[in-house]
Amino acid sequence: MSLDKSMILAIETSCDETSIAILKDGKELLANIVSSQIDTHKEYGGVIPEVASRLHVENINICLDEALSKANVTYKDITLIVVTKGPGLIGALHVGLQAAKAISIAYDIPIIGLNHMAGHIYSNRYVSELKFPLLCLIVSGGHTELVLMKEEYDFEIIGETLDDAVGEAYDKVARVLGLAYPGGPIIDRLAKEGQPIYDVPYPKVEGDYNFSFSGIKTAILNLVTKLNNRKETFKNEDIAASFQDQVINILVDKVLLALEKHQVKQVLLAGGVSANSKLREVIKGEVNKKHPDIEVIIPPLWCCTDNAAMMAMAGFYSNNEPENLDFGVDPNLVLGE
Ligand code: KG4
Ligand code: ZN
Repeated sequence: MSLDKSMILAIETSCDETSIAILKDGKELLANIVSSQIDTHKEYGGVIPEVASRLHVENINICLDEALSKANVTYKDITLIVVTKGPGLIGALHVGLQAAKAISIAYDIPIIGLNHMAGHIYSNRYVSELKFPLLCLIVSGGHTELVLMKEEYDFEIIGETLDDAVGEAYDKVARVLGLAYPGGPIIDRLAKEGQPIYDVPYPKVEGDYNFSFSGIKTAILNLVTKLNNRKETFKNEDIAASFQDQVINILVDKVLLALEKHQVKQVLLAGGVSANSKLREVIKGEVNKKHPDIEVIIPPLWCCTDNAAMMAMAGFYSNNEPENLDFGVDPNLVLGE
């Protein structure tokens, strides 16, 4: 069945942003409302799932109204609803799904449920057409994956983290340094003022394209504990630079290794950590040094962390069939399955 995708309403509530987007003809982003809960979660040093769900409940209708009004459309103009069905926090995902179903029933609009990580990949579609095959490095708060796409909306995970995700490692190291949540952007800023003077281990990992970041996080914890015990003064900036440089080395090495085996036309970056200034700068240079013909695409900053615009774009290119109204969320949904 071919779906009318001329006016997509997208709903994203998988973690700590309530977001609604409206996309016309796969090109014109009429609205992308993002209500971030970060200020509340900051007080707890991380996302508290129950609090996240409640805030989504409080915010979702406001975001929906704001998106429709900004786009100057009504529900009657919407031809397709796209909702994130996983992976994510179960309660948070449910809020988005129930809103999607309510609108679907009231206005007789089909729904498709999509994978949040597909959304991150398709955030790149706001800057460039995608050319296949391509390789995408996904670096978010919950995921670190190397994904091979041989054609449109076709995903094969060829490598992934065996423990912590990159964003999670950033957030945990930030906590060790006494910095606020989310730590990624703060470490990014501090690292610019510091020198990578500390040795950070390079993890040995099973599987060519797999990652591991928990050892690095523990190494930083041990380093800071040792420096404090010895009453040695140190600068958070230097720790941040040492941590970040090694993390980026690892990410770039794995991409280069994957490119030895897989011939692709493009390399994409995706996920919250793709907002990292150094990663954005380094990945392009390193890939193009060895592979000048490969186009490196980096999502626009406004579309790196969670938002519904990326889900709307993924919806435009997905080949998913409309869901029956009894469909549910899947907190552990895996890309490509
Ligand atoms: O994709 P995202 O918004 O949420 C998930 O789906 O997980 O990613 C959030 C993650 C957080 O861990 C945050 O610290 C990290 O992205 N992040 C960054 C930067 N901006 C956000 N990490 C490093 N450098 C940044 N500039
Ligand atoms: Zn995300």
